[in-house]
Amino acid sequence: MPSPSVLLRKVRQSDLQIFYEHQRDPEAVRMAAFPSRDLEAFMAHWAKITRDETVIARTIVAGGIVAGNIVSFMRGDTREMGYWLGREFWGKGIATKALRLFLRGHTARPLYAGVATHNAASVHVLEKCGFALSHQEDDFYILMLA
Ligand SMILES: CC(C)(COP(=O)(O)OP(=O)(O)OC[C@H]1O[C@@H](n2cnc3c(N)ncnc32)[C@H](O)[C@@H]1OP(=O)(O)O)[C@@H](O)C(=O)NCCC(=O)NCCS
Repeated sequence: MPSPSVLLRKVRQSDLQIFYEHQRDPEAVRMAAFPSRDLEAFMAHWAKITRDETVIARTIVAGGIVAGNIVSFMRGDTREMGYWLGREFWGKGIATKALRLFLRGHTARPLYAGVATHNAASVHVLEKCGFALSHQEDDFYILMLA
């Protein structure tokens, strides 16, 4: 199947309900090893990161449809990445394209990402975009783009 066109744009309020559904998919939660939030906590979290000028959050649009989000944020002194797609968008190269686009537009380095050790697809996405293993923290690999 041909890979859909992918673009990034600023997050709109109307995207949040879609992201909320994506983050409560049990298979995605298992994959990311990241617990889902209930609606109130999820909306409060997004209100907080939207106000935070150090956070860069973008909506991933694939084939004209909101497919997920990609976010860069500070943890202490280091800048980290995260991304999340709805399950119907997995396995089509969308995360790789979205991360490449993000890295082209945002050049702060080094950049880190923490990935559950069983999340081979996400490790692969990061490696395809130039990230390499930095170290391991419990059940998470920490990858870095220098
Ligand atoms: C992880 C996630 C972003 C991947 O998105 P995606 O669009 O399916 O990723 P891509 O298609 O761009 O690339 C995935 C790559 O991993 C490969 N892959 C998939 N499952 C794999 C597995 N079990 N083992 C090894 N490689 C795997 C794919 O073949 C593909 O590589 P290829 O392009 O060389 O064929 C998506 O599954 C997701 O959002 N999951 C839930 C949330 C999550 O885990 N977020 C990341 C937290 S770090």
